[in-house]
Amino acid sequence: MLMRQHKHTPFSSLRRACRTAPAIRDCHRPVAALTLELAHVHFIWRCTVSKHEASTQTVFDPIGQRYEGLARPSGLRYGIIEVTTRCQLACPGCYMVRRGALNHGSLSFDQAVGVLDRCCEYTGRELETMDILGGEPLLWPPLKEYIVELLNRGIKPWLFTNMLTITPSLARWLFERKVHITGKLNVDPSDPAQLSVQAAMIGRNERVARRMAAAISVWLGVGYRNPLFRLQNLVRQANIGFVPDYYRWCLEQGIGTDLELMGSGETVGAEYYAVAPTPKQVARMIEAIHAVRREYGLPEAEVLMPHVFGSCPFYDKGLYFAADCSIRACSNSTVTLAHLSDQDPIRKAYESPLICRRLSLCREVVGEPCRSCDRWERCRGGCRATVEGMGDPYGGYTLCPLPYLGNGKPKVG
Ligand SMILES: C[S@@+](CC[C@H](N)C(=O)[O-])C[C@H]1O[C@@H](n2cnc3c(N)ncnc32)[C@H](O)[C@@H]1O
Ligand code: SF4
Ligand code: SF4
Repeated sequence: MLMRQHKHTPFSSLRRACRTAPAIRDCHRPVAALTLELAHVHFIWRCTVSKHEASTQTVFDPIGQRYEGLARPSGLRYGIIEVTTRCQLACPGCYMVRRGALNHGSLSFDQAVGVLDRCCEYTGRELETMDILGGEPLLWPPLKEYIVELLNRGIKPWLFTNMLTITPSLARWLFERKVHITGKLNVDPSDPAQLSVQAAMIGRNERVARRMAAAISVWLGVGYRNPLFRLQNLVRQANIGFVPDYYRWCLEQGIGTDLELMGSGETVGAEYYAVAPTPKQVARMIEAIHAVRREYGLPEAEVLMPHVFGSCPFYDKGLYFAADCSIRACSNSTVTLAHLSDQDPIRKAYESPLICRRLSLCREVVGEPCRSCDRWERCRGGCRATVEGMGDPYGGYTLCPLPYLGNGKPKVG
C-alpha cells in the first residue's frame, strides 16, 4: 500500500531522487515506488491574485490554483473524463478534430462512475477534482446525475463547454452547486468586425459564433464570475492579434481567462504551424497583454506554460479517461496506457513507463530552455504530451516564448 502517512515529505527528497534520474530513465520499479511514495502529501496553496482580481472572486478557490504550480508534489489526484465525443463544432487545432475522434460515441453513466470507483480503489481515497469534457459535455444526457455523484463523493467538478446549449435553468443549477465552468471565446465579442474570426475559430458560420458569444450572458445572468467562470482561448495564428482585446473584455466583465497554447501529442511540424503561432508571436502577444494589465493597474502576470499564465496541473497528477474506455496521461497525449476493462487499470496506467518518466523529470535532466529556467518548480516544462510527441520525453518545451521575452533568456535561478 502506498505510504499516505508521509504528509510533509520535503521537496528536497524529490530533488535528491531526481539527481539519480539519468540512471532511471527506464523507470525501474524501485523508482516507481519512490516517486509514488512521494505522491501522497498534502498540497499547499497561496493566494497570489492581485487586489483587482481578488475583488472579482466570489469564493475561495483552491481548485483554480492547480494552474499556478502550487499544488506539488505528485500523486494521482485529478481526473479528466471525456464523457462524450458528440460535438456541434469543428475548431481548427482541437486535438479531437485533428484525430477525427468526434462523434464516435459516449460513456454510459455507469462507466463514468466506474472510473471514480477504480481511482478510489487504487489510491484509497476519492479524486480531488474531475474535469468533464468531450466532445461537448452539455450534450451528454446523464451530466447532472454525474455531477451530483461527484459532489456526493467530495470530488469538485469542472465543466469545459462550448456553451451552445446552455439554458438559464441549467446554468443556475450549476451555479448553486459551485461547479467551475470554462467556456470558450477567442475574440472580443463587443467588436462586430471580429465575429468572422470567431466563426473561423470554431469551424462554423457567424450565426453559430454569435450564439456562442450570447451564451456568455446566460452564465453571467445567474451570477457566474471569475474564478468560477473562465473563458478559454486556444491561441492560433488567426486569432492571436485579437487576444489583447479578448483579455481586456474579460477583465471588464469579471470573467477569468485561460489562454492556452496548442498542444499536440503528434509531431510538431509544418501541419502544426499552419494553425498554431510561433513562440516569437506568442512573446509579442504576452507583451501586449502586459500592456493591458498595466492599463488596469495590475502587475505583470507570471508567464508559465502551456496556459501562458499557468502551468499544467495534470502532467503527473492526472489521468485522462476517454469515451472509448482507454486511459491516457492527458488530453494531448496519444499514448494509450490502459483500458478500463483491464485488471487493475489505474495501477497499469499510473505506473506505466510514461507516467514514471514524467514523475522522474527534474531540472537536472530536462532539456533547454527549461533547464536554465528559474520558473522550473512552478512550471515543470510546459505541455509534456507535446514534448513527448516530439520524440524525447526529457526534452525542454521548445514552444515556450520565454526566451523571446525581456532579456531574451529564461533567468537562471
Ligand atoms: C476538447 S475541448 C472539449 C470541451 C468543449 N467542447 C470545449 O470546447 O470546451 C476541451 C478543451 O480543450 C481545449 N483544446 C482543444 N484542442 C486543444 C489543443 N490542441 N491544445 C490545447 N487545448 C486544446 C479546448 O479549447 C477546450 O478548452
Ligand atoms: S467545441 Fe470543444 S470538442 Fe468541439 S471541436 Fe471545439 S474544442 Fe473540440
Ligand atoms: S522555459 Fe520551460 S520551465 Fe520555463 S516557463 Fe518555459 S516551459 Fe516553463
